[in-house]
Amino acid sequence: MTPVDDSIKRPQPPPLDQLLPAEPLLLMTAGPVPVPAEVARAGSLVINHVGETMAMVVRHIREMARYVFQTADAKIYGVSGPASAAMEMAMTNLLWPGRRVLVLRNGLFSGRFAEMAEGVGADVTILQDPSGGPVTAPQVAEALKTASYDVVTMVQGETSCGVYTRDLDEIVALSRSHGALTVVDAVCTLSTMPLKKDEWGIDVVVTGSQKGLSSLPGVSLISFSDRAWEVAAQRSAPRPHWCLDVLRAERFWGESKYHYTAPVPALLALHEALRLIIEETLERRFLRHLHSSLSLQKGVEAMGLKLYTPPLTRLNSVLAIEIPEGVDDAVARKYMTDRFKVLIADAFGINAVRIGQMGEQCRAPNLFRTLHALGVAFSRQGLALDSSAGMAAMEQHLAEFAEDVL
Ligand SMILES: Cc1ncc(COP(=O)(O)O)c(C=O)c1O
Repeated sequence: MTPVDDSIKRPQPPPLDQLLPAEPLLLMTAGPVPVPAEVARAGSLVINHVGETMAMVVRHIREMARYVFQTADAKIYGVSGPASAAMEMAMTNLLWPGRRVLVLRNGLFSGRFAEMAEGVGADVTILQDPSGGPVTAPQVAEALKTASYDVVTMVQGETSCGVYTRDLDEIVALSRSHGALTVVDAVCTLSTMPLKKDEWGIDVVVTGSQKGLSSLPGVSLISFSDRAWEVAAQRSAPRPHWCLDVLRAERFWGESKYHYTAPVPALLALHEALRLIIEETLERRFLRHLHSSLSLQKGVEAMGLKLYTPPLTRLNSVLAIEIPEGVDDAVARKYMTDRFKVLIADAFGINAVRIGQMGEQCRAPNLFRTLHALGVAFSRQGLALDSSAGMAAMEQHLAEFAEDVL
């Protein structure tokens, strides 16, 4: 036997079973979210990353993704990596030095496009509303009067603060009429609320798998209109990314050839997640999400807590709840995990906690467990909350609007 370097200690990690809690936490954060059994099973399988079976899986994923994106786009790709990798694919293929981008920013994730665009040397302009609310169509119209842009980026749902871009379709139409390509982050919203890629004329949509789609993290999806793809395909500027290059991605996704080794289990899981969405239908899924979130909102308010975002721009897919004075939210969240095995999220420095309403999170038992845990955890810190009124209000909304979909 060849001796190994004995200055490097041989570690002795415990088996995973000993690390994982006996009862897994209910994931009610802004993602990843719980996955259906079919998705979990598919995610435990490995098949060859190329060949006839994989080609069929890929073909179905593309076809199902078209339905979910509401598009006839030919150029749809899975991207190995988080949703940020799909955002980066959009930025790195459409932008390079000399190209101009207008980034509509109203939080951490919409602002990420600007960081990525700067990284590839584009000329970046950021437009934001001083209130922190979503950028509106009149603000975009004003910005487009004074300068021209090759690309305009925006987010449909800004997860970091629970804000929804109400004017999205109008902003897309405006940008298009000024000759700009549009890139939309639908990472937390896809399949939770309407997004009509073709009807609204969006050029590129990106999404993650671990949120609305209720699949495993690790693969994201991106869809290019023909005109966006042509811009990327015809660029003469150097292509700084190899994995994220759309021409190379087309080899695997369009021609069933090797690009890099595909993340097989995550793709199989995505196949199942998309299939379950098709089975449910988008119409029923939107309704399930809407009423699940509204029920929770009714419950939160009836209990005596305040929602962080005003109703007009409130994102239903991730709900931000104001932290009342005197409450230490970290202590409350820890209590929720220790006592009730429910995990909710903090909010990147904003005075709110966030509860996800995406995919499998939108099921009645999860709502009751989460609202109850939240009420108890906040009340323990001396806050006068009426938990029973909250649960009753939620039950009433569910009974009236959502019994058959949730
Ligand atoms: C709206 C939005 N965009 C982008 C991202 C980035 O996703 P990922 O962490 O998978 O890269 C997130 C993640 O929470 C998000 O909510």
